[in-house]
Amino acid sequence: MTAINASISFDRKMWRQDIRGSLAHAAMLKHVGILTAEEEAAIRDGLAAIATEIEGGTFTFSEALEDIHMNVEARLTDRIGDAGKRLHTGRSRNDQVALDVRLWVRDAIDGLDGQIADCMTALVERAGEHAGSVMPGFTHLQPAQPTTLGHHLLAYVEMLGRDRGRLADCRARMNESPLGAAALCGTGFPIDTHMTAAVLGFDGPMRNSLDAVASRDYAIEFLAACAICATHLSRFAEEIVLWTNPYFGFIKLSDSFSTGSSIMPQKRNPDAAELVRAKTGRITGAVVGLLMVMKGLPLTYGKDMQEDKEGLFDAAESLTLGLAATAGMVRDLKPDVARLRDAARAGFSTATDLADWLVRELHLPFRDAHHVTGRLVKEAETRGIDLPDLPLEAMQAVHPGITDAVYSVLTVEASVASRTSHGGTAPENVRRMAAAWRERLA
Ligand code: ARG
Repeated sequence: MTAINASISFDRKMWRQDIRGSLAHAAMLKHVGILTAEEEAAIRDGLAAIATEIEGGTFTFSEALEDIHMNVEARLTDRIGDAGKRLHTGRSRNDQVALDVRLWVRDAIDGLDGQIADCMTALVERAGEHAGSVMPGFTHLQPAQPTTLGHHLLAYVEMLGRDRGRLADCRARMNESPLGAAALCGTGFPIDTHMTAAVLGFDGPMRNSLDAVASRDYAIEFLAACAICATHLSRFAEEIVLWTNPYFGFIKLSDSFSTGSSIMPQKRNPDAAELVRAKTGRITGAVVGLLMVMKGLPLTYGKDMQEDKEGLFDAAESLTLGLAATAGMVRDLKPDVARLRDAARAGFSTATDLADWLVRELHLPFRDAHHVTGRLVKEAETRGIDLPDLPLEAMQAVHPGITDAVYSVLTVEASVASRTSHGGTAPENVRRMAAAWRERLA
């Protein structure tokens, strides 16, 4: 029974939140006259001493006392006697745990928000440096059109910016206090839930006591936002894995972000990127896990809900690691600019520019231009050369209207420079966007 019932091995992580909640509850009990000033002072001092014990590693956690709430309360009574036993007046572990988890998630959101911002800052810095570094843009992982490394990195800045927005939305929605719901129906004691809510930085108390102890949707929402963010990180991590592969050779990671092999002396493995990619699995698993715990659970509290914590803690910790590793790799990575440019030239990447030129200069309908370009690509392919190296006569044999002027759009530099539409890859756009982001993040 103890083995399955106890949660102290993992919910001790919430000790700060538990003590914060108890301090607010005790202050309120004094305010409404349930505790004397002396009792409340003793509770405050006792909880402060317990915080010091836990922080210093001298607190003895007991499995027999089940969870963090009973561990702290028992120790408090040890230290201060009867006043400690009065702390739980008008409160249940059900609203206490609901409060602690909420405070924990809110703290986690605030920590992750700063970390995502740091990761974005790193990306923006590198994007600014490489606003003009041409690289291949891919669709289907096949060469598509030239883009710039700066534009590519800023795509992730946009994604991470939305991740921050999702966490902020979650925080705004969850920022209500469940304390005062007691076991499930509220209490007859004249508690002041507006006061505890305000002291703990909530917008107000929850309106329904049953909902307050029974709901974990905020934790699910938090995990969903984490899973989406982790998914973004994993896509970038996968690109780092590909780009550091010598067949791509787009970037190098220094020794601080690569590992060797115990048998192959030449190896440089992107382990950090692989682990960022993999951690998405457990983070996504945590959302699904908690959804499964909550589905079909009748109101209100059920011990099932004790299972909300391990996945929650693990997911937040994994995302914290993933963000730190990603920011580190972004700051560390060294692009091979010449190789990126050469790769951008391959695969007839300026074929779209050629088709656009035929539309603009010869007024061909786009579909016809597409067809003509296809024939020119085939011709270049047969000769084993790139599009810009195709002689004018060969071009004119496919379409007699083509002139010398066409060559000016066939370089990768001309291609990226021409894409000035809103959100396009032109280096001047990228420079402007990087500057705007830098300002926003500062
Ligand atoms: N350890 C429990 C949890 O995490 C605390 C609440 C227990 N409440 C109860 N009535 N047994 O959910």
